[in-house]
Amino acid sequence: MDIGVLFTQLSAMKIDFVVDHIDPLGQGVSKLGDRITFIPKTLPDEKGQASITKESKGVRFASINSPNDLTVKSPNRIISRCPHFDICPGCHFLHTDYDNELLSKKNAFYRHLKKLDPSPENKWSIDIHRASSRTGYRNRIQLHYDKMKNQLGMIQASTKSIIPIPDCIIATDPVLHKLKELYADGSWKKLVKKGRRKGHIEIYQMDSGKVRVSVNRPYSDGGFTQVNREGNEQLLKLISERVTEKNDGNATILDLFGGKGNLSRSLSPRRSWVVDASTYSDDQFEKHQQYIQKNLFDDFAPRDLFQEIGETVETMIIDPPRSGVKNLSEFVNKFEPKEIIYVSCNPATLTRDLQAISSDYTLKVVQLHDFFPGTYHFESLCVMEKKV
Ligand SMILES: C[S@@+](CC[C@H](N)C(=O)[O-])C[C@H]1O[C@@H](n2cnc3c(N)ncnc32)[C@H](O)[C@@H]1O
Repeated sequence: MDIGVLFTQLSAMKIDFVVDHIDPLGQGVSKLGDRITFIPKTLPDEKGQASITKESKGVRFASINSPNDLTVKSPNRIISRCPHFDICPGCHFLHTDYDNELLSKKNAFYRHLKKLDPSPENKWSIDIHRASSRTGYRNRIQLHYDKMKNQLGMIQASTKSIIPIPDCIIATDPVLHKLKELYADGSWKKLVKKGRRKGHIEIYQMDSGKVRVSVNRPYSDGGFTQVNREGNEQLLKLISERVTEKNDGNATILDLFGGKGNLSRSLSPRRSWVVDASTYSDDQFEKHQQYIQKNLFDDFAPRDLFQEIGETVETMIIDPPRSGVKNLSEFVNKFEPKEIIYVSCNPATLTRDLQAISSDYTLKVVQLHDFFPGTYHFESLCVMEKKV
């Protein structure tokens, strides 16, 4: 059945809900009725009626059109500053204050990490690094377009419809300016004139401050960069302090999934091996950094990389994509780092990977860095120290 028809039929069905708690994706969870229902943009103890958007495997998804659908509102509810919030799938927490948002993220992080070895030596607590602003931080946004339907915006997963966001408040000023320009008089259509019927447009504010627009290029065109510049600076400072405290200038660093060497850039004079699958030229790195291009998901990558580098390292920094690194222990067995600094945006795969090395390493530091205020996403940094 056509997804649009199915959605129209389902959304005609309304259900009563009472929100029990917020899940790690920022959705309210209702246990009322015969199955669990997930309702975005609600808060604990809120009640009302929601339209069903999807049903699968014993759970259902539903949505409210606006806070007016609520019969009971939470005292923690605020009026969102974003005009798109009620229908935009990009943000999840702008209907509550920042402390409440951070508490949800901390709880979601804890739910995963508590699976790690609870022995007394493995004592940790989550140290939160707040964002200085909830808005105006995002230097890169991706929009989807459909020429035939004359639509540009964010994709709503359950309905596959495109939600226009000309006034997105989490974009930096230069990105927002470009966004408004693209929407004005439908000028985005000129950009995609000869291209595909459906596709995506990325707006990116470069370090120089200039804004680049790319059409149907791979995401993060030109190489991965963090979307929150200020948050990234804070993360680099903390990594640098830790490495300086634990190592002298002769230490060797391995920066896996290192991209353009962001995380080891400030670790001079320590020799830093930066490894990533992307193509970069040597002049994009600092003098103390040596770049190796390699597919780290290749089965033989730990062995081949060790042969190439030919030495163990004091600190291994690792910052993989959301899928994590299932064979982290193979890299660890080869390079024998005294310390591992794992930067992750996915607490589920982070926990799985740390569990795999937890018989030899102790978790010493856990930090939640809020790079993505307003959304359920966050960055994290964990330090594992070799047991003696
Ligand atoms: C989360 S980013 C981290 C980049 C970098 N550490 C930074 O702070 O900018 C993940 C990186 O993994 C790289 N990557 C993805 N798949 C890879 C693979 N199979 N082998 C090596 N690197 C890969 C991407 O190119 C990207 O640079």
